[in-house]
Amino acid sequence: MNTKYSDLIDQTYYFPQEEFTVEGSELHFHGIDLMELVKEYGAPLKFTYLPKISENINKAKKWFADALEKHNYPGTYNYCYCTKSSHFEHVLNEALKNDIHIETSASVDINIVENLKKKGKITNDTYVICNGFKRNGYITNIANLINGGQKNCIPIIDNYEEIDLLTEAIDDKFKIGIRIASEEEPKFEFYTSRLGIGYKNIVPFFNKQIKDNEQVELKMLHFFINTGIRDTAYYWNELLKCLRVYINLKRICPSLDSLNIGGGFPVKNSLHFEYDYKYMVEEIVNQIKIACDEAEVEPPHIFTEFGSFTVGESGGAIYEILYQKQQNDREKWNMINSSFITTLPDTWAISKKFVMLAVNRWNDEYERVLLGGLTCDSDDYYNSEQNTNAIYLPKYKRDKPLYIGFFNTGAYQDTIGGFGGLQHCLIPQPKQILINRDKEGNLETRLFSEQQEPQDFLKILGYEK
Ligand SMILES: Cc1ncc(COP(=O)(O)O)c(C=O)c1O
Repeated sequence: MNTKYSDLIDQTYYFPQEEFTVEGSELHFHGIDLMELVKEYGAPLKFTYLPKISENINKAKKWFADALEKHNYPGTYNYCYCTKSSHFEHVLNEALKNDIHIETSASVDINIVENLKKKGKITNDTYVICNGFKRNGYITNIANLINGGQKNCIPIIDNYEEIDLLTEAIDDKFKIGIRIASEEEPKFEFYTSRLGIGYKNIVPFFNKQIKDNEQVELKMLHFFINTGIRDTAYYWNELLKCLRVYINLKRICPSLDSLNIGGGFPVKNSLHFEYDYKYMVEEIVNQIKIACDEAEVEPPHIFTEFGSFTVGESGGAIYEILYQKQQNDREKWNMINSSFITTLPDTWAISKKFVMLAVNRWNDEYERVLLGGLTCDSDDYYNSEQNTNAIYLPKYKRDKPLYIGFFNTGAYQDTIGGFGGLQHCLIPQPKQILINRDKEGNLETRLFSEQQEPQDFLKILGYEK
């Protein structure tokens, strides 16, 4: 009988895969010997494999370049990185190696842009697309950036007051975009996104507040579908609705020349993951071209703002199984030496799934388990994978430590989890390791931040100065 963990993986998935291989009984990720990492740094740990960021950016740029060529598309494609998915300097440094642009969501993003400009990583030609609801701090920051020469900074108008606020704060002419408030999927708890301006109100808004404002040049229409770019009737329908608005607006506003289709490219969340990125890109470009040709309108330059896709697949987390609690005949709880709520908050908040695999002991027998975190919150658990509705891992043995890895966790988890701050039950934040390759392709690792210490918490809490 095939009872080894490696047999289970072989029977369940096509394995090995591009990024996952097994050497002996241990897992490697992009050629990284994960047990070596554990031996050097200890677990729990989080890591970022920086080359994956550039790899994904270049994949997307190639899909778009091929699609533009295939459809004889007259406009350009512009890749923007959505900084809120991970603001870390090492992430932006890597992303910006690839001739890309930036999308911001809030005021401090602009301070980051200014910092990167000082270091020469961003120039005055870089597009800085400013999304989000804008009030004093953000407006002032955007205005300073534009007044300082960032000619391709495009604030995306999210509500009716923003134009006046920006016009007051900016010295010369400036470009703007308008965000369409998308209609949500029927299963959502609300109909229309709170972000942006409703479809029907866009043309009247242009006529009332933009047309006669000589300081403002409308360049971009922006739309973002919360559920991402999917091959569903809902997505294609929303794209077509957006294109109709673009066409109507373009007819009365010749300066409009760009369409921003937001973020929303998915990330591999299981070893069964299938998504035809190339087809989706080709079809998006095709739909835009067809709609514009039919309406005899010049097709727009296309912008995207991929966050998860840029940085998600570069990140991972490794935990040690500390102990097994058998709570009844069927339920065995493997306790990790950290917390899901604090280190992978999306698993708890929106039941998000990540690729999860044993890091060692692949030749041992497996068992079905539940995974528990160390906080005393009963919701701090992980109990199923994307396609299996269960979790299987090598059998717990007190004298044979077991390590597990969660992969493709690089987007949003650290900011939502509050990196460096208070954590639920004061479970310390794990250390963070950066992994890169030198010119010869050899792996280099370095510690980015240590695990949080009790004194860190006591300081934040006011017990120690
Ligand atoms: C306006 C906008 N652009 C881009 C993104 C990035 O989305 P994703 O991480 O799915 O690519 C978001 C995410 O919420 C967003 O709101």
